[in-house]
Amino acid sequence: MAEPVRLNGLIAMHVPFKPSRWLPILAIGLALLTAACDQPTTAADPAAADARWASLGERLFNDKSLSSDGRISCASCHRPGQAFTDALATSVGAHGRTGTRNAPSLLDVAELPHFFWDGRESNLETVVLQPLTNPVEMGLASTEDLVGRLERAPQYAEAFKPLGGVSAEAAAKALAAYLRTLRSGDSAYDRFIAGDRNALGPDEQAGLALFTGKAACNECHVLQTPRARLTDDRFHHLGVNDDAIAGKVATLIPRIADRTRLGQIVLTETDVAGLGHFVASRQPADLAAFRTPSLRNVALTAPYMHDGSVATLEQAVEQEIYYRGLNKGKPLSITVEERRQLTTLLRSL
Ligand code: HEC
Ligand code: HEC
Repeated sequence: MAEPVRLNGLIAMHVPFKPSRWLPILAIGLALLTAACDQPTTAADPAAADARWASLGERLFNDKSLSSDGRISCASCHRPGQAFTDALATSVGAHGRTGTRNAPSLLDVAELPHFFWDGRESNLETVVLQPLTNPVEMGLASTEDLVGRLERAPQYAEAFKPLGGVSAEAAAKALAAYLRTLRSGDSAYDRFIAGDRNALGPDEQAGLALFTGKAACNECHVLQTPRARLTDDRFHHLGVNDDAIAGKVATLIPRIADRTRLGQIVLTETDVAGLGHFVASRQPADLAAFRTPSLRNVALTAPYMHDGSVATLEQAVEQEIYYRGLNKGKPLSITVEERRQLTTLLRSL
């Protein structure tokens, strides 16, 4: 049953939700779904409803009029052609305001147990409304401001009507439904694992042996089967600067007391952003710990790391080999040639 769902998502990445284009895709998806199940299926109605929510969500996602300066949409920072990232170290929002974090890819976001580099949220419907009112993202004055804008736009009043009318909850549901359709496609690595032994060349295969062997990258960037997500959904820190960070914590704790404003504070204050998963868990062990990012499509998502501090994939591999080795108290000895093979493997993901 996973197959048709992914097929829909894959196509949804490239094809706008024009009903005329969507119907055949949906029909194929449903046909596959029916073929995949032995018993008759009642999936037809829910699938159509999901598609309607997702189609509205895609419009909201691309709408710049939902920002305070009319120039920023979700897609400004999550660009479809770049695996839904923005090629900037830290994203720039309305009125040219710069945040503290690197925009993550939104592909496969449906599979994440928690969101943001620090894991401070775990509900997608909550997450999707936050950028609209964050001053360094879309900068609207309030959620009421959003609802007012939607009510005043005739095309939205019309689109929301069959879905129960305009509300912040409905906008959140639509955006989340759209994001859940965004799936990464099959990579050369996936084809290799599925049995196509020629999908990866000799360098990539050598890189894979390193990734799961001497370099042990897969301890965190896990190669699940049948489909590798390349993350363990956990938080890790580099183990450097820990003392410097610990020294600052006492002064920063009052800044993170108000959980309802956490997103705004994290994206506007560099010191707080550096606290990592601690802002969510308040456990000292999580200071400066960040989520293991998936490496799917990693060739498209430069620059790298939670703060975008690493410009190229080569440098990211270099830094990971160095610090993850230090972490273990035993530096990894990996030759220049092996680093190149590891990087080549990452490009096939
Ligand atoms: C100004 C750039 C910008 C805009 C506009 C923006 N985002 Fe983001 N988005 C980011 C950044 C940066 C992060 C990471 C923030 C963090 O980790 O603290 C993020 C994170 C996310 C996440 C969490 C993904 C994950 O892997 O945990 C989702 C979901 C998301 N954005 C959806 C949206 C939606 C929906 C919109 C529009 C309503 C939107 N974004 C608008 C920059 C932006
Ligand atoms: C202990 C867990 C762990 C191990 C082992 C590990 N990583 Fe990572 N990796 C992470 C975390 C956590 C981040 C994000 C760090 C940050 O943002 O500061 C990351 C980030 C990355 C990035 C940047 C991705 C992006 O989208 O920004 C790449 C590339 C990467 N790792 C490759 C590797 C390679 C190659 C290896 C093996 C040599 C490896 N990692 C080993 C946890 C790990």
